[in-house]
Amino acid sequence: MRSLMIGVASLMFGLLALASDIPELPSRDAFYTPKAHNWTGEKAGTVLDSRTVTVELPILPGGNIEFEAFQLLYVTQDFDGNKATSVTTIIVPQGANTSRILSYQIAYDSPDINCSPSYGLQKGANRAAVAWTLNQMIFVAEAAADAGSPVLNIPDYEGSNAAFTVGPQSAYQTLDSIRAATKSGHITNIPEDAEAILFGYSGGGYASEWAAEFHHAYASDVKIIGAAIGGPPPNITQTYKNVNKAISSLNVWAMLGVMNAIPKINEYMHSDLKDDHREQFLGALQRCSEPEVSPPKIPNWADVNKWFHNGDEFLTEFEPELREIGVMGNHIEKGKSPSFPVYIYQGSADLITAPYSNTEALKKALCDAGTDVFLVKWKGLGHGNTLFLGTPWAMKWIKKVFNREPIQNGCGDDHEVDPGVGDLAGIFGGYYVDGDSSPGRRLVWGDVEEPLFIQGGAHPADVLGRMEL
Ligand SMILES: *[C@@H]1O[C@H](CO)[C@@H](O)[C@H](O)[C@H]1NC(C)=O
Ligand SMILES: *[C@@H]1O[C@H](CO)[C@@H](O)[C@H](O)[C@H]1NC(C)=O
Ligand SMILES: *[C@@H]1O[C@H](CO)[C@@H](O)[C@H](O)[C@H]1NC(C)=O
Repeated sequence: MRSLMIGVASLMFGLLALASDIPELPSRDAFYTPKAHNWTGEKAGTVLDSRTVTVELPILPGGNIEFEAFQLLYVTQDFDGNKATSVTTIIVPQGANTSRILSYQIAYDSPDINCSPSYGLQKGANRAAVAWTLNQMIFVAEAAADAGSPVLNIPDYEGSNAAFTVGPQSAYQTLDSIRAATKSGHITNIPEDAEAILFGYSGGGYASEWAAEFHHAYASDVKIIGAAIGGPPPNITQTYKNVNKAISSLNVWAMLGVMNAIPKINEYMHSDLKDDHREQFLGALQRCSEPEVSPPKIPNWADVNKWFHNGDEFLTEFEPELREIGVMGNHIEKGKSPSFPVYIYQGSADLITAPYSNTEALKKALCDAGTDVFLVKWKGLGHGNTLFLGTPWAMKWIKKVFNREPIQNGCGDDHEVDPGVGDLAGIFGGYYVDGDSSPGRRLVWGDVEEPLFIQGGAHPADVLGRMEL
């Protein structure tokens, strides 16, 4: 009897420990829903709620960094301009200069809200979310490791409806997260006049570029002093064509992300979807949701066009919408272009952003409108390798901008770096970090058939650690 009681007690203790160690999925977590009914009357950037969270950063090259982590539920707007809320995670390293905000737009690339960084960064989050959120913290570790380093603002910029690749919404929600950060001083110590630099790569570069483009019209009160943008896809229709049958899961995530935001497209795609691919296509909506039955995997070589009765006709049918949400540069003109310097880096062999000339055109548009741009072309590198090799240089640039050190206006020149290595794994190498380095709980990740590894599966810390900074 006694041993049974002890057994029951320890079982209960075990359950309690389990419950408090594992964060709730955003779809079930009450924190994501505003408590006050009148919240829609609040201004964009208003902080509605806050909490502290436990974040465990992966092993970092700079050793252990002490920090505190907070989350803010803030007011913003969706693609249609309706009031919405999102959550941002703020990391305050010990000794940080809280007058500096590095707004890090993580590439979470997901039509599932449960892949949001605010969840995936928390200790105990599931593996599917961790792989695309926490593991990307490695890239900003360098910026957060010094005395006087910035605080990190990491917004769920796709918002509460997981609108992946919807540029304007990502812009509003990124900019409003910085507004919220500067109103959170009583929690985070960030002063109202803090200066922000935007940073992101790939899906995060996308969000960062759109935020830079909308800064003038939507949030000129937000004090942005620079933007470092890596591998931004300038035209999502072009990307769709580039990656179909190569990184097909990316197309599925983007299509579903757009469908989450635009009812008309949602309706069309649902009725155009063939029954024998319904489960596979819509399954991606549960990428981080721990479904009891895993949806069929999406092989990267799948021809997504064949899953629809009318193939890729939706690209033509919805060309105006896709241009509005997915082609960069439409908001760049003299007097409205970013008033801060922009650093762009991109691999010349990057399939996701190809052709490279699109990025050159973006640079030209920015330069013509009066923005200082420094574009670095990583010769011969694809998307993943440019992330690993190019990001430490972006971090250096960010530090210079924060420190008011002189930076070069690159509008007059081309900057080509020949790293002397081939495109390692190609396309998406290194992006998905698998193996024991991931602290997340194991969850079968059904999206990418065969994750590619950078240099045979080396941990990014090893790669970064070996680089001359
Ligand atoms: C919402 O209600 C609270 C509590 O009554 C009040 O303090 C706040 O000002 C209201 N907000 C708006 C926008 O009306
Ligand atoms: C903190 O950052 C602000 C804004 O960049 C700067 O003006 C200030 O000098 C910095 N303080 C220290 C102690 O470095
Ligand atoms: C975007 O790319 C598509 C596919 O190549 C092209 O047809 C379209 O004209 C591009 N849009 C713009 C605005 O350049």
